Amino acid sequence: MPHMALCYCEIPAKEEIDSLNWQLKSAIQRLCAALPAGQEAAYYWLQRQFGALRHPADPTQMWEATVEIVTELRGIGFEIRGARVLEVGTGRRIDMPLGLYLCGAGPIVTVDLHPYLKAELLMQSVAALRRDRDRIRQIFLPAVPASELDPKLDRLAQIRDAAELMREARIDYRAPADAAQTGLPAASIDLQISYTVFEHIPRPVLAAILNEGSRVLSPDGVACHHIDPSDHFSHDDKSISAINFLRFNDIEWAHRADNQFAYHNRMRVTDFEALYRECHQEILAWDNHIDSRSLQALNAAFPLAPHFQMIPAEILATTIVRAISRPARPRDYPQ
Ligand SMILES: C[S@@+](CC[C@H](N)C(=O)[O-])C[C@H]1O[C@@H](n2cnc3c(N)ncnc32)[C@H](O)[C@@H]1O
Repeated sequence: MPHMALCYCEIPAKEEIDSLNWQLKSAIQRLCAALPAGQEAAYYWLQRQFGALRHPADPTQMWEATVEIVTELRGIGFEIRGARVLEVGTGRRIDMPLGLYLCGAGPIVTVDLHPYLKAELLMQSVAALRRDRDRIRQIFLPAVPASELDPKLDRLAQIRDAAELMREARIDYRAPADAAQTGLPAASIDLQISYTVFEHIPRPVLAAILNEGSRVLSPDGVACHHIDPSDHFSHDDKSISAINFLRFNDIEWAHRADNQFAYHNRMRVTDFEALYRECHQEILAWDNHIDSRSLQALNAAFPLAPHFQMIPAEILATTIVRAISRPARPRDYPQ
């Protein structure tokens, strides 16, 4: 078993406890992934008992992000109302598709390589709609008129099960399904979207997903991908920074994270820029967020693995990338 930290008998010092946290999580993920069967069920059970999922989830953060994205799309001239959507990488919940529905989107297809969706988590979002209706209404009002929003909120509040929710919101969940090969007709989608998914997918598959987007997008269609290149272990373990994983070479990192629960490609923002160029995407908007704590660590001689050492600190410390693009027309391709 990797990382014998679990076997320590002595009480570790505070710094050791902090630094153990992410390694403990990594060890649990590897243990679950190595089970002969029921890997996801085991990991989900642990998260429900001891992890973030032991509390009812709060969907409002995702709905705030949805409204922000819808507003940004409008800023570049793309209207969500009636748009046919393809979401890449559903995960366990449908808060992003549900948010897009409330903003006026048309039918939404959401695909995932793994059937992770959980009916009980979907119903937690419905419960939140009932419980915090006024607060949630305020989140959506900047993006959708009350005359459209209120009847939808009324209907969603009556929903009794996950299947009814999907029908009402016109969400078509497909899993297992590969976003690189959707089987959807050409030009049948107006928006290809993902949220914190691209960092979990190997580069060659990302190229195939962007190219599949180019095939299924209508002539006025756009792709919008919100990417989180930070070390995801830093989300739970505040003792490490968002660039902590850049200390490991590829073999060391694969040992910790090459499994279905932890995989992270560690691509930096410039790698994504190169990928978009390679896939002939015309960039309509590109937002980066640089993490100041990571920048500070890098300026204080953070021990980088050799293949990150030549990369400027601002590039390494970019922890959010949001790319809005559309397929370039062949005559615009660089010669
Ligand atoms: C971190 S989850 C993101 C979930 C969701 N977007 C959210 O923000 O809650 C990434 C998801 O992408 C899925 N995924 C990975 N490769 C994929 C592919 N080729 N096609 C579709 N989904 C994929 C994974 O199975 C996983 O459920």
